[in-house]
Amino acid sequence: MSTPPIISARGLSKSFRGPGGRTVDAVRDLTMDVAPGTLTAFLGPNGAGKSTSLRMLTTLLRPTGGTATVCGFDVARQPAQVRARIGYIGQKNGAGQYQRVRDELLSQGALYGLSRAETRRRVDELVEALGLGDLVRRPTLKLSGGQRRRVDIALGLIPGPQLLFLDEPTTGLDPQSRAHLWEHILELRRRYGTTLFLTTHYLDEADQFAERVMVVDRGQIIADDTASRLKTDLAGDRISLTLGDDPAAAVVAVRRAAGAVGAGGAEPEAVPAGEGTHVVVAVEHGERVLPALLRELDRDGHTVLTAELARPTLDDVFLRLTGRSLREERTDPSRTDPAPEATSVGAPR
Ligand SMILES: Nc1ncnc2c1ncn2[C@@H]1O[C@H](COP(=O)(O)OP(=O)(O)OP(=O)(O)O)[C@@H](O)[C@H]1O
Ligand SMILES: [Mg+2]
Repeated sequence: MSTPPIISARGLSKSFRGPGGRTVDAVRDLTMDVAPGTLTAFLGPNGAGKSTSLRMLTTLLRPTGGTATVCGFDVARQPAQVRARIGYIGQKNGAGQYQRVRDELLSQGALYGLSRAETRRRVDELVEALGLGDLVRRPTLKLSGGQRRRVDIALGLIPGPQLLFLDEPTTGLDPQSRAHLWEHILELRRRYGTTLFLTTHYLDEADQFAERVMVVDRGQIIADDTASRLKTDLAGDRISLTLGDDPAAAVVAVRRAAGAVGAGGAEPEAVPAGEGTHVVVAVEHGERVLPALLRELDRDGHTVLTAELARPTLDDVFLRLTGRSLREERTDPSRTDPAPEATSVGAPR
């Protein structure tokens, strides 16, 4: 990495003493470097250790092992310097509910020690960037979940942080509000170049918006790459064809044709279909291989009855890594929620 990382963690760990003296290793050996200006998604099931990691990186929780620097400062030894440079929007929001939105934003500026003029300038700018114009005179208590989340983000951005941590910014929102909130998050990045580090349960969000996805499970990072590389390397595209041949002939035909178009390697699997044989073969760049494969099979005189390309999702990646589906783990009834946490950090309090 040519520029120094904005987040650098080495073996960061957190154990909690659970009920009955049982130790919960919430985060184990978190090691990573995050480049400035990037958007990283921390993806994982309930209880994976996402919030605990964020709370250590934002100095809200003291690590039990390892070290981390954020914006060049040590989270354990220089928490004030770290806090002065970051914003944090916690998983639960609990800011003053009876104030009007604008007053809440203005008092946040005072909290960070900004001058009144600077605070007003900053509030006006964020109201515009986050589309809060229609909401500023309303009491925050009366806002919808998506509107509340946008106000939370504005609060986190008042001090102009270089780095913003967002813990599940979109959880519980309907698809339209999620899409809307994402537009705003991306706009912030475009406008201010803010480094964004966020957690989500939503596979599609991580896939679509993050340039780097870290998959976390049981306190550990189990994969770390771009979404598209994770999918290609760990899950791969699959082409499904129905050929008019018997299974043995169909496998030979697909193996030969795949080799001829430069997509050989994986062994095709065949199951007899009602009419002909159903063959599935794993390939890379399925969108390019499929048409070439069809032409090749046609040239060899095979009848292709159906053709389908299945692209992997990040859930396939998780399934491949853990043998479990992330979708099924979305809600874990056995989970015990930790105590409510502070929703923002920053300079003097
Ligand atoms: N203050 C605490 N005391 C005891 N255990 C805790 C505490 N905070 C978190 N844990 C435990 O640590 C583990 C990781 O929790 P964490 O909140 O980091 O998970 P998460 O990935 O953020 O989950 P979710 O997706 O549900 O928000 C869980 O087993 C949780 O019960
Ligand atoms: Mg969490």
